Amino acid sequence: MGSTYEILAERLARSFDRLVPGADPALRASDHADYQANGVMAMAKTLGRAPRDVASEIAAAGDLDGLATIEVAGPGFLNITLEPAFLASRLGTLLGDERLGLELVRPAKTVVVDYSAPNVAKEMHVGHLRSTVIGDALARTERLVGNTVIARNHVGDWGTPFGMLIEHLLDLGEDRAVAELSIGDLNTFYQGARSAFDADEDFQRRSRARVVLLQGGDPETRRLWRILVDQSVTYFSQVYAKLDVTLTPEDVVGESFYNDALEGVVADLEGLGLLEESGGARCVFPPGFTNRDGEPLPLIVQKRDEGFGYAATDLAAVRDRVARLHADELLYVVGAPQVQHLAMVFAVARQAGWLPDTVRCEHVAFGSVLSPDRKMYKTRSGETVKLVELIDEAIDRADDALVARGTDLEPDARRELATQIAQAAVKYADLSTERQRDYVFDLDRMLAFEGDTGPYLQYAHARLRSILRRAGELDLAGVDFALVDPTARDLALGLLGWPDAVASMLEGAAPHRLCTYLFDLAQRLTAFYEACPVLSAEGAVRLERLALCDLAARTLALGLGALGIAAPERM
Ligand code: ARG
Repeated sequence: MGSTYEILAERLARSFDRLVPGADPALRASDHADYQANGVMAMAKTLGRAPRDVASEIAAAGDLDGLATIEVAGPGFLNITLEPAFLASRLGTLLGDERLGLELVRPAKTVVVDYSAPNVAKEMHVGHLRSTVIGDALARTERLVGNTVIARNHVGDWGTPFGMLIEHLLDLGEDRAVAELSIGDLNTFYQGARSAFDADEDFQRRSRARVVLLQGGDPETRRLWRILVDQSVTYFSQVYAKLDVTLTPEDVVGESFYNDALEGVVADLEGLGLLEESGGARCVFPPGFTNRDGEPLPLIVQKRDEGFGYAATDLAAVRDRVARLHADELLYVVGAPQVQHLAMVFAVARQAGWLPDTVRCEHVAFGSVLSPDRKMYKTRSGETVKLVELIDEAIDRADDALVARGTDLEPDARRELATQIAQAAVKYADLSTERQRDYVFDLDRMLAFEGDTGPYLQYAHARLRSILRRAGELDLAGVDFALVDPTARDLALGLLGWPDAVASMLEGAAPHRLCTYLFDLAQRLTAFYEACPVLSAEGAVRLERLALCDLAARTLALGLGALGIAAPERM
């Protein structure tokens, strides 16, 4: 059985279908009633009848009998109000359901999520923060609905810069290089390599020769390259742990993994007659992509110097993910500037038959992180801000806030809670903005215990847990959900919306929709507390209110968990 919304939508669709086969009732949540159906207008037009007439006919059809009452409103809207008994029985079902009405996707799908993808020997910046946080929320939520997630951390571990990076490693000496990289001083290392390259012709010559050795598989060069990759991956793992992100070193399948497949990619494109020569490079011109002057745009798969680039690697990756991993869905959580690159890769993969229409493939693009002056987020000296430093600062501030609030936690426990609050603050601020939009990185606002923030939602959960702890052992089996107070009824309706919020988030790869849902639920709770004292109530009313608290606490915990945010017991 689906969500309450789905049950109603399905029943209502029967009435619509009898008048116009396949007509959409357009059922929505409503301010005027519990739900409203807006589909009558379109249908009346098709039928050439007065909308109010059609609306009355649907209201009289009886398909919602026992579930809800229908009232015709305005020019032909249907206002739908749940029957008390049906609402109560729905809540009763949720009480006994760990997943609170969220059904598993059956058969389960295999979803490949390409996210995080920092570059070896380069600092992770706020763009990687966004990819990591959004990708992890999608991965967790896909798992929650029962899908199989294959995370792919497509790290940049190949290409011409590695000649320079390896030569710099040799100049520093392995020990010193490892020391620098292992404390996460990737900026210093990378910039050291860059300045040597810019200043010294001999270094440039050595770097170029080193790339050739690397590509030719020279064992010593490969060993040095491995050091760079391993040290960086170890460092990235520390950042993931700080952020409480589910990525593991096993999910690192970097660009280099596809090296052996690149020749095959080019040969097969050639065989399909898709390759064209352009300026010495070998390219595909997928239909529909043109530059400003209307000329067709090339996707370069092999450069003039015979080297393969970023695009060839992405083509090989699509192919691997569909053919070998049997992906039903591919999600690429990559910044908006790469929109054209990915669109062209997907188009070429479709042309080549590597990406069938049955496979959903989506660029989950996101905007930039800005500083309060609305410029790109950088340090004062113009360097990229180290992610770890941001998180550490958020943890320190959350810790200070806990002290200021007079917490009685021991320092270790306090630090742990501060870490969970900081993660919530940073993640929620990122996830709650519609992802294509830019947002301003403002720790003070993110960490606030009031407003649309992660810590506020954690607090809403902890407050419920505290009420439930004080109530002690409860037997909620025979609760009578009378829902006499309107705020209790509003809260109940909010609880019923949980499966729909998850579905809507996944459909649009849009975590902000789940954030909006959770924030709305927290606000319903506030109104409920004001009107309905819980612990001081008595008898059946007290039990009903406690049951609502239990459901709300569990919904918040599950929802925050799907976003990668902890729901601590106390705050
Ligand atoms: N490493 C790239 C960067 O830092 C992101 C890679 C995104 N994923 C992909 N399959 N192209 O910008």
